[in-house]
Formats: sequence, structure tokens, C-alpha cells
Amino acid sequence: MSLRLGDTAPNFTAQTSLGVIDFYDYAGDSWVVLFSHPADYTPVCTTELGATAALKEEFVKRNVKVLALSVDGLVKHEGWIQDINETQGVEIDFPLIADENKEISNAYGMIHPNASDTLTVRSLFIISPDKKVKLMITYPASTGRNFQEVLRVIDSLQLTAKYSVATPADWKEGEDVVVANSIKTEDIDAKFPKGYRIVKPYLRFTPQPDK
Ligand code: BEZ
Repeated sequence: MSLRLGDTAPNFTAQTSLGVIDFYDYAGDSWVVLFSHPADYTPVCTTELGATAALKEEFVKRNVKVLALSVDGLVKHEGWIQDINETQGVEIDFPLIADENKEISNAYGMIHPNASDTLTVRSLFIISPDKKVKLMITYPASTGRNFQEVLRVIDSLQLTAKYSVATPADWKEGEDVVVANSIKTEDIDAKFPKGYRIVKPYLRFTPQPDK
């Protein structure tokens, strides 16, 4: 059975470019972005890992650890990381898992046999500090992911974990949010002192509470 939102992310031990890790130990009290790459020495993956490394400060600011996976082995990983650093102008300092036996890829449902039965697709999981799967996105091998979108959804997940709000379409950090339907209109004032506006009884906006 494949993973679903709200499930506990399976723990694993992995060989990585930074040594052997236990996933839960690596995650500690941080959020984690765990994302798969179809293969080493591939162009789209090269740009994706470069983009991720370039956003290091953004991930650190959000208390997020990054963990990449490819089904190739450690020797390949080492040479490829050098290429990524050289061509993308970065220093990759997060682990790249060598999942040669595909144990982790299978546990996380990263292999979609009707797309490829040997390579992973571009799966991305956001896992909260309590090790729950909070978000999953899946792209095909031919389409690189949007890492600004990854940061945006992390902002939404972290905000909505803390306040009784939801984030509307295309929301970005700092913009108004939606008051959760669990909050009665008569209770909004007390909960959201910055004010609110009612568009419909079920559509109520308030300024982002922690800004
Ligand atoms: C790439 O990363 O460029 C890629 C990987 C597998 C298939 C197609 C493209």
C-alpha cells in the first residue's frame, strides 16, 4: 500500500554521500524534504540538486533538512556531486542516498512501474518533526520541480500547523489567509486580533497571524 498524507514516514538506514544515516536520527526535530531523482548524471536532476543547494539558507530558516535519493551507487554519486557543484556553482552539503537495492524507493512508492520499472519518478515528501507525511508531489522524469513552490508549501504547512487557518490559491508568505471553518465567526475577534473580512459565511480572511 502506498504512503498517504498523515501516515508515519517509514524509518530507514541508508548509505549516503555523507555516510550511513538513520532517517529519524537525521531528521531530529526538523521538517524534512525527501526527494527522489531518476538517475545520476542526468541533466534535469543536476539542475534540481543545484537549485536545492542554492536555497540552503531558505531551508535552514524554516528548520528543514533536505535528503535526496537516487538509485545509483556511492561512487557514481561522488563524481556526480562534483559535477553539480562545478556546473551549478553550489556546494552540495546534504546527503544523497544511494538506494541501489531500491528498498527506500519501494517503501516510499517512488517507483511507478508504468512510467519506469527501474528508475524512480520525481517524488517529493515533506515530513513534519513528528515524522508524519504532510505533503507529496510527483513529477515525471522529464519535468523539473519548482523549488520556490516547495518553499511556499513549507510556509503553508508550518503556518497551518500552528494556527487555525488555511492558505488560499497561490498564497504567498505575508498574504491574507483563510480562517478555518472550525472557527465560529463570533470567535474570530478573539483568535485573530488583526481583524478579518467576511466574503461569505464560509469564506473569511484574516491577515497572516504571525506577521
Ligand atoms: C533528467 O534528470 O534529465 C532525466 C532523468 C531521467 C529521464 C529523463 C530526464
